[in-house]
Amino acid sequence: MAIEPFTIVIFGASGDLTRRKVIPALFRLWCEELLPKEVSIVGFARKDMTAEALCEAWHDPAFDELGTCDPVSRECCWEAFTKRVRYLQGHYDDAASFSKLREQVETNAAEAGLAPNCIFYLATPPSVFTPILENLAESGLARKGHPSPWSRVVIEKPFGRDLESARVLNLLAGRLFDEDQIYRIDHYLGKETVQNIFVLRFANGIFEHLWNQKYIDHVQITVAESDGVGHRAGYYDKSGALRDMVQNHLMHLLSLIAMEPPSSLDADAVRDEKVKVLRSLRRIPGDCADNGVIRGQYTAGDVAGRAEGNYLDAEGVAEKSATETFVAFGAMVDNWRWEGVPFYLRTGKCLPRRESEISIHFRPVPKVLFNADPDAPLEQNVLVIRVQPDEGIRLEVLGKVPGGKRIIKPMHLEFDYEHGFGQPSPEAYERLLLDVASGDATLFPRRDEVEAAWEFVQPVIQGCCETCREFVHPYPAGTWGPQAAADLLASSGRQWHLR
Ligand code: BG6
Repeated sequence: MAIEPFTIVIFGASGDLTRRKVIPALFRLWCEELLPKEVSIVGFARKDMTAEALCEAWHDPAFDELGTCDPVSRECCWEAFTKRVRYLQGHYDDAASFSKLREQVETNAAEAGLAPNCIFYLATPPSVFTPILENLAESGLARKGHPSPWSRVVIEKPFGRDLESARVLNLLAGRLFDEDQIYRIDHYLGKETVQNIFVLRFANGIFEHLWNQKYIDHVQITVAESDGVGHRAGYYDKSGALRDMVQNHLMHLLSLIAMEPPSSLDADAVRDEKVKVLRSLRRIPGDCADNGVIRGQYTAGDVAGRAEGNYLDAEGVAEKSATETFVAFGAMVDNWRWEGVPFYLRTGKCLPRRESEISIHFRPVPKVLFNADPDAPLEQNVLVIRVQPDEGIRLEVLGKVPGGKRIIKPMHLEFDYEHGFGQPSPEAYERLLLDVASGDATLFPRRDEVEAAWEFVQPVIQGCCETCREFVHPYPAGTWGPQAAADLLASSGRQWHLR
């Protein structure tokens, strides 16, 4: 579908997220000629600077993103790209700044003879979401109820810090914009492997017929990061792994794995099914001392040769902080398809390597023939979806080792995206920005989806005394989290697949 020309206004233009994610994605789309050539990029921030200075600050990360392209064409692309950039210094709570913004957007469009379609990207801390949204509406830029020229607003995570604040933000956004103008971004949904879960499940008879409690023993979802909290410690310490990763990224992975086939590929049909999964999640009551939710916090250690300090010593972390940098728990989806099948979720910082995978563990064959010896049970068949890095799929099956003896060993059927399709997967932000520009909200969580995820995660957070260090298990950086996380699975005779 051809994308109509538009202006993208980036609030928080001088910030880290814009520099590291938004601009490199826009730049790559521009170089690939996927953006309309009339696109206009307006950086909006509080700092007093010029468009040239802003582009200078954006230059390096954007360039890193195009490592495969030759330097001369990159330079040409960059020059053309920066010609599309304007900068507006303003304040998020100042109506006059937004009148100026409107003037700028309309003048640019009029000069180019185009409709002033707009994307407003909120790449700012959540504390200024409210004044930005209100001022967009006040200045007439929100255009609620006006499909043409269109306005769309992209809201970054965290979407609320609990159910109540998410509801308040949803209410405000819903009062000022129509739901189909609101794009709540979760970059995990833009990852190629995550989108492929849908195709893998619903385009392949071989898997979908086995995709239920009759054939699946359990599911594991691990999102492991090797980095520590770094310069984001101030933000992270008020958030923790449950808010930062589970409420959004892990809940989306789980709902894509567990959802029913939607009636169509329409954005709402897909999101309806995801919401149903979230609503079927059995609530985890009680406190983290004994409800099976394992929270951990890293201490000093060695992560693949890198010395990492104690979390508590990071700048911005409160003294005696009980914030979790690791969490693991089992979730049950109480519906017909998944009755009795545990979904084990785990995520953490400073784990041995950056690797994320979803593994589907199939029930064993009957305990006769090859599986008869109780002391040497056969390994389960596992379907592994490698989310990152080395995006791919692996099917772990058993085979006979050639020779006279009957020795059975695991064999791996591997598929690797980059080699299989001969091209690297696009960055998540590229795909998502293109979807916003073309008005496709399928990969963006809807209002009820965000709230349903909070409804599940909030009691878990509340069950953990957020200030009590005795319920947080320390683990040395560079290990797979606290022993209690391994015990969580060991108690049912299972173990983490990624280790
Ligand atoms: C972000 C979290 O949403 O996702 C970060 O705020 C985390 O704490 C990041 O590091 C992980 O994203 P990715 O794409 O590197 O797995």
